[in-house]
Amino acid sequence: MRYQLKQIQCRPWTLNGLSPKLIESHYENNYGGAMRRLNAITEQLEGMDFDKAPGHVLNGLKRDQLTALNSTLLHELYFAGLGGDGKPTKDMSDALARDFGSMDRWRAEFRAMGYALGGGSGWVVLTYVPRDGTLINQYASEHALSIAGGVPILALDMYEHAYHMDFGANAKAYVDAFFRNLDWPALFQRYEDARKVEGPRPLLQPEFGDVQGVTAEEVKDMLASGKVQVVDVRPRHFVSRQQEIAAGIQWRDPEQFDKWVGELDKAQPVVVYCAYGFHVGCGTAVKLKEAGFDAKYMNSGHMGWKAMGGPVKMFP
Ligand SMILES: [Fe+2]
Repeated sequence: MRYQLKQIQCRPWTLNGLSPKLIESHYENNYGGAMRRLNAITEQLEGMDFDKAPGHVLNGLKRDQLTALNSTLLHELYFAGLGGDGKPTKDMSDALARDFGSMDRWRAEFRAMGYALGGGSGWVVLTYVPRDGTLINQYASEHALSIAGGVPILALDMYEHAYHMDFGANAKAYVDAFFRNLDWPALFQRYEDARKVEGPRPLLQPEFGDVQGVTAEEVKDMLASGKVQVVDVRPRHFVSRQQEIAAGIQWRDPEQFDKWVGELDKAQPVVVYCAYGFHVGCGTAVKLKEAGFDAKYMNSGHMGWKAMGGPVKMFP
């Protein structure tokens, strides 16, 4: 496969304080250079006999391919971020305010990250993380670092080649010029497109549709309010092996359900959980619901409680 050069996404002669000479050099030498490297590496890989090639040669080429590919992608994003009037739009300001507290707070962090990379090299990237539906400013000291599953929507190039010709060592003035040229409507369009990307779907769905799951964090809050009964229903062999239990929680054998269900108060909600949040906890919650309780199960079970940092004690 041959990777194709993309036309520059901003008009170099319209930029405010970034010279056409700087942008042309950046596009031709650095973006173009990365694209040429990417194609040369890819060609080498296509001609490689994978059965005979030494592992370190293959690894080295694949690493270089990743760096070159990401360099081309980030440069395209960088140029696409420029060409605007630098005036924040309401839509994008609102989106940034939601995830950073305020638009000014976002800009202060993004700018400070750019200043901090001045004289060194790297990228500052505004990235959308579909898993959480949020934006984050990401530091990248190389072309290859990226947030897994993230969708970059704005990139600030802090390699010296991006500013030295116009600004010398004055990286701060370059960062300020970047903001003056920021294309906010285009940024918001990329944000809208990123939001259409769905986060990873759960690999395992609880099989008990009508019983509600609650997170370990929610259970902790419910316990603090004192208005919940929580029962650990891990199978007996789990409890005897692990020898620990969430502090303040009673264990009841799920196989002896009928013997202990009478201890519970129907006037208060009940949360049950097992080891990992699958069948036993859900199944017990279903039984409790059928018996007339307001019952839920705790997602991710005892393991989730510990992963959250919930207190445990030795099993009596
Ligand atoms: Fe660059």
